[in-house]
Amino acid sequence: MDAPVSRSDAARSDAPLIDPFARTIDYLRVSVTDRCDFRCVYCMSEHMTFLPKRDLLTLEELDRLCSAFVGLGVRKLRITGGEPLVRRNIMWFFDRMGRHLDSGALEELTLTTNGSQLARHAQALADAGVRRVNVSLDTLDAEKFARVTRWGRLDAVLRGIEAAKKAGLAVKINAVAIKDFNDGEIHDMIAWAGDEDLDLTFIEVMPMGEMEEQERLGQYWPLTQVRRTIAERWTLTESAHRTGGPARYVEVAETGRRLGFITPLTHNFCESCNRVRLTCTGTLYLCLGQDHAADLRAPMRASDDPAVLERAIRAAIALKPKGHDFDYSRQKVDGQVKARHMSVTGG
Ligand code: GTP
Ligand code: 5AD
Ligand code: SF4
Repeated sequence: MDAPVSRSDAARSDAPLIDPFARTIDYLRVSVTDRCDFRCVYCMSEHMTFLPKRDLLTLEELDRLCSAFVGLGVRKLRITGGEPLVRRNIMWFFDRMGRHLDSGALEELTLTTNGSQLARHAQALADAGVRRVNVSLDTLDAEKFARVTRWGRLDAVLRGIEAAKKAGLAVKINAVAIKDFNDGEIHDMIAWAGDEDLDLTFIEVMPMGEMEEQERLGQYWPLTQVRRTIAERWTLTESAHRTGGPARYVEVAETGRRLGFITPLTHNFCESCNRVRLTCTGTLYLCLGQDHAADLRAPMRASDDPAVLERAIRAAIALKPKGHDFDYSRQKVDGQVKARHMSVTGG
């Protein structure tokens, strides 16, 4: 039987979530499905085995879990996948999370999407209280786009971005910098983002999931180099802009837009990490680059008492490691997370 709620448990409820390295955890990323309608080559294998439906948390359970985190001081919620917008009835969940925006408990509700279903959902997202979305897009060349996503169509994503803008959502493009793939397009992407009023962030490729070592090393294009290349053509000034995510920004004078860099390899940002990741089965991963995890599904299902779930969440936060060990500097891949594709947590 569960222990009765003691006075100290009740008092603890007001305490923020703080990890062993004194970092306050106020940002939860939630993967609502492991499925996706694309098969990006750096993210998934072509023949993925997905979770059986019976292993998924229901949307009501996801609501309960996320609401518990909000009650414990989470101020920013990012919905991811797989592709979050392929989960059935997902708008119900966004609406439910919207109530935490209304109450002021939550500062930001947002999502990272591949954009394929955005045209259909943009207005409903805005209505739920979403103000900005991150769309993953690595190339503006339709043929290359089809190649990197294996199954995707560029025009559907561009239509999704248009619809998002029309609904009043700010859009940021996330592009993984991939050597011999989009390195020739960097200037075009910056110009396009400027024309379309989009911010743009480049990401260094991380060793998530099984991949042949030489293939991963071949994809890696350090953002220190990317930035040098960009600075040859554009005027960049440092920006103090922060979103609570890992990107660091500069402003591009010629376009007036922000350009972000997410640099897990060349400049580690774990020291200021404020986030944890919940999967669609109720597993909480404490770090993108490590296997430390805790199951929240069992304690949630075992009892309706919020104190039981709170204890499980606090115990999980106590497992958060210092950071990832990704490293390519010795011409080999170190710190790889073999067992988990990026699609388990959505980045
Ligand atoms: P916002 O600033 O909120 O717009 O988000 P962001 O651009 O900082 O990051 P976003 O949430 O869109 O994530 C983009 C990618 O950054 C993810 O898909 C991951 O690949 C990477 N990323 C995000 N958080 C972490 C992290 O804690 N560690 C590492 N290594 N990578 C991360
Ligand atoms: N390294 C870096 N980013 C990745 N993403 C997917 N796989 C990787 C990887 N191995 C990015 C996607 C998307 C987000 C969910 O994570 O491009 O922007
Ligand atoms: Fe799908 Fe995103 Fe992975 Fe691409 S990166 S396969 S869009 S989950």
